[in-house]
Amino acid sequence: MADLQKQREIGIVFISHDLAVIADIADRVVVMQHGAVVEMGLTQQVFESPVHSYTKMLLDAETIGSPLPVQLGAVELLRTDQLKIWFPVQRGLFRRTVGYVKAVNDASLSVRAGETLGIVGESGSGKTSLALAVMRLIASENGISFLGRDIQCLNRRQMRPLRSDMQIVFQDPFGSLSPRMSVMEIISEGLEIHSKSDQKIHREMVSVMLHEVGLDPATMDRYPHEFSGGQRQRVAIARAMILRPKFVVLDEPTSALDRTVQVQIVELLRSLQEKYQLGYLFISHDLKVVRALSHKVVVMKDGDIVEHGSAIQVFDAPQHPYTQSLLAAAYTKKDVMLKLLVVVQEKVDNGIGAYWSFIKNRGYFLCGSHLLPWFLDIF
Ligand SMILES: Nc1ncnc2c1ncn2[C@@H]1O[C@H](COP(=O)(O)OP(=O)(O)OP(=O)(O)O)[C@@H](O)[C@H]1O
Ligand SMILES: [Mg+2]
Repeated sequence: MADLQKQREIGIVFISHDLAVIADIADRVVVMQHGAVVEMGLTQQVFESPVHSYTKMLLDAETIGSPLPVQLGAVELLRTDQLKIWFPVQRGLFRRTVGYVKAVNDASLSVRAGETLGIVGESGSGKTSLALAVMRLIASENGISFLGRDIQCLNRRQMRPLRSDMQIVFQDPFGSLSPRMSVMEIISEGLEIHSKSDQKIHREMVSVMLHEVGLDPATMDRYPHEFSGGQRQRVAIARAMILRPKFVVLDEPTSALDRTVQVQIVELLRSLQEKYQLGYLFISHDLKVVRALSHKVVVMKDGDIVEHGSAIQVFDAPQHPYTQSLLAAAYTKKDVMLKLLVVVQEKVDNGIGAYWSFIKNRGYFLCGSHLLPWFLDIF
């Protein structure tokens, strides 16, 4: 867009809740709250010295915390071994297979109880396909095991008893909830299938669940359109959690929400994880949110896993140029500067050797990115 703008001299009004993108693309910025402009000015000025309390809150909300440690000896919930997902491309009258869309190649990963595996990668890199395949919702090849049991070979009927242990939450809090069902009906749908108890007990269970996800139980007979995006996502989380699963796939659960609501959802997910020792497979474009929740991270590109390691390793010393470019694009100059200052302080405290090795790693990751001049400015 920036290139097009330069070539054709276009004026752009860019609307987003992604502060990193705004910092990168906008010359001037307008901050709105409840339909009113609360602050406007040059982007750098607004980001570095915000005046209005709402702008300050938005910028502060950029810090979303970090995951809680995984318990020692945590049981392995999910494991895949060189998982392959190829979609056949069929043509002609007889639907002959003429080729394949290779959505995922050789994905080997694992998730333990209380652990989050973050999956990042550009659009079309195979994230959702991978998530659907581990849930056995689409066909794939090679090993998938759940709690040590091979589930790749199970048919639909054999999978059914396992369904309550594995749940999924989708990105779109508008599209993923049926508009014709009340919140009570949406959340209790799984209970009707998996538990035999009566309606009264189900209402009580939904009421407890709503309270747990931070919604007023008195709203259970309302319909999805009567809730905000963040509240709808809480309903979707309640629907996934009511059967007390062990493993939950979260496919971009915060992407449609603004940063302040994202922070609340991340905190909710973190507290549910701690309470029930849930294993999460967490998919997101937003590296800050991934970092806030994930213990391990997988980076995908065109169906391949190009990087796989602990979140600290992947975020602080990314090895693959693709991961380096993703990280460079996700963090604003202000973020990089603040983080550098904090980490440098820690490293200095730990001795000068660690300090230099950090500078070397960070310099390497910033090389080739537009942040390099900034990095040099700082030192
Ligand atoms: N049912 C399908 N049939 C054929 N091709 C498919 C099917 N589903 C996905 N694909 C292809 O597989 C590739 C991976 O898609 P996928 O939805 O997994 O990407 P993604 O990483 O989740 O992207 P996004 O970030 O946009 O959600 C894409 O090239 C897509 O076009
Ligand atoms: Mg997807």
